Amino acid sequence: MNNEVRQILVTSALPYANGPIHIGHLVEYVQTDIWVRFQKMRGHQCLYVCADDAHGTPIMLRARQEGITPEELIARTSTEHQQDFASFSVDFDNYHSTHSNENRQLASIIYQRNLEKNNITLRTITQAFDPVEQMFLPDRFIKGECPKCGADDQYGDNCEACGASYSPSELKNPVSAISGAKPIDKESEHHFFKLANFEQMLQQWTKGGHLQSEVTNKLDEWFEAGLQEWDISRDAPYFGFEIPGHPDKYFYVWLDAPIGYMASFKNLCDRTGLDFDQFWGAQSKAELYHFIGKDIIYFHALFWPAMLSGANFRTPTAIFTHGFLTINGQKMSKSRGTFIKASTYLKHLSPEYLRYYFAAKLGSGIEDIDLNLEDFAQRVNSDLVGKVVNIASRCSGFIRKRFNSQLSAELAEPVLFQGFIDAGKSIAECYEKREFSRAVREIMALADRANQYIDEKKPWIIAKEDKEAELQAICSMGINLFRLLIGYLRPILPATAAKSEAFLQIPPLTWAALSTPLLSHTIAKFKPLMTRAETTQIEAMLEESKEDLAAQNASQAKPHETLTEGHLAKEPIADTIEFSDFAKVDLRIARIARASHVEGADKLLQLTLELGEGDSRNVFAGIKSAYTPEELEGKLTIMVANLAPRKMRFGLSEGMVLAAGPGGKELFILSPDEGAEPGMKVK
Ligand code: 2FM
Ligand code: ZN
Repeated sequence: MNNEVRQILVTSALPYANGPIHIGHLVEYVQTDIWVRFQKMRGHQCLYVCADDAHGTPIMLRARQEGITPEELIARTSTEHQQDFASFSVDFDNYHSTHSNENRQLASIIYQRNLEKNNITLRTITQAFDPVEQMFLPDRFIKGECPKCGADDQYGDNCEACGASYSPSELKNPVSAISGAKPIDKESEHHFFKLANFEQMLQQWTKGGHLQSEVTNKLDEWFEAGLQEWDISRDAPYFGFEIPGHPDKYFYVWLDAPIGYMASFKNLCDRTGLDFDQFWGAQSKAELYHFIGKDIIYFHALFWPAMLSGANFRTPTAIFTHGFLTINGQKMSKSRGTFIKASTYLKHLSPEYLRYYFAAKLGSGIEDIDLNLEDFAQRVNSDLVGKVVNIASRCSGFIRKRFNSQLSAELAEPVLFQGFIDAGKSIAECYEKREFSRAVREIMALADRANQYIDEKKPWIIAKEDKEAELQAICSMGINLFRLLIGYLRPILPATAAKSEAFLQIPPLTWAALSTPLLSHTIAKFKPLMTRAETTQIEAMLEESKEDLAAQNASQAKPHETLTEGHLAKEPIADTIEFSDFAKVDLRIARIARASHVEGADKLLQLTLELGEGDSRNVFAGIKSAYTPEELEGKLTIMVANLAPRKMRFGLSEGMVLAAGPGGKELFILSPDEGAEPGMKVK
């Protein structure tokens, strides 16, 4: 082992701040965390930073939909993300946000320096604009009919029905997915990053040993297609950083997202006194690695090194790309219950199982990995519970009862012990190269040898034969082999390793400490280190994931989605609520005193609802597709009378009328029979 202490900075991709961590995300965080823990165990200075990716239109809209500010949304999500990561033992040295002062400053520096070097240009483009929401529409927020097959309701730039790809301007009868309005074309000045200025630098860099060979090949295709200018600005309204000197123009989320790696590290430096320039300066000798998924190669292997070099910062040492997660051989699916949130998984199964299973599957390539749930339980139970933990439980009882918890003064089988130490070299190489599945195979081969040793020596028979010294020697040997296995598995199973260290009464294991056996040492009472993974737990997790989906559908449907033909008919029943929750909703009979069209709104009618003497409410209801104002005036209906007023584009809405149906023309307001009086409580 090279004894020089390396300085290493490691990142995982920054998760978006508008959704929960799911087990697909965890492949990457677990992979990175294992690698970082290995480097730390080797005695290197290895720092692992991450942050929430907090900017962009979807986050702005999601906050609006929930009736909160984007700042509130990203604060809440950050807490949830960090809880999930901590539960899975993903141990960041710093977790920050792209919506931070550090990131604002660094984004501005990187922009400014590139501007000075003429790597940024301004030009006017025409884009789809939502006249109701008064905003430009990203591709995925435009819907319409596929220009190839005519399928309705297709998003952005590709058709789910026929697979065609096209530009959003080719969609027939396009509508804004936000307001339902027909988009108009509008001009705006945008800032572009001139990627082609970096063609030579990138050609060299991408072939300079910083990328896996599959990734380099992929990049060649992009070089052949030509490096396009990259649009790095967005117009207001946008949640992000305003471009200095350009009011109402914002940095596109993908401009400041990778800068978030630097910002998180800067925040760590300011907290702990580390030297930022030592890691990010153009002359840095430190190593810098980004772990990413294969969907974001373009950003990390082209834009990112170009932006950095244009701003006189160092470029990454390497980018480590991994594949996607499939479950039982298929893409994660909400309806099959395999879209599993980290928090849902944790209610049913130990995080250590998943860390182990991912490690057992992960190599250094970019192919997808499959989580086969049957294989998962079988593997965890036979390898971890059956082979590794079992060694400690087989040996510890005798040590405690017969030898006052004291291990023998010498190793019974020094050659066997040395064989385990020698195997550590190859295991370390596997970790270093991210060949975790090979590391696991080699460690399990050692576990087989340890079990074989105990099977041959049969301590349970020796125990009956009054051969005390031999019994102590065999069991001490077993405990020492167990210690080595746990040491080798420690980057993968940090929680089990911590429990094992408590049982062995030793400080946290380092790689260097492994070769010194535990002799004449007192161990603690053995407590079960891991239980079996049961099929019933897996089934319960899948069931709950289906319920998560139902709850999510009920709470997140966008206004236009609830009006989509056939949408509600398919909606599963939402999570059960307590009666006390239901009782909070105050439903009242209301008379529709007035109904009118709302200028500029495709879906809304404005209603004046009377709840009795002196209590009338202004409500905007999305029922224009089903009713004319004349049909409604004078009718009785049911409304939620205690809904907090909501500020909408057209005014304040002070309640909600109840309607049912799949949407479009088939939408029915609830109308009580004659005899009901405005203001009556619905019970
Ligand atoms: O694809 C994503 O989920 C992005 N939020 C990843 C950003 S990684 C980095 F560049 F910030
Ligand atoms: Zn189509």
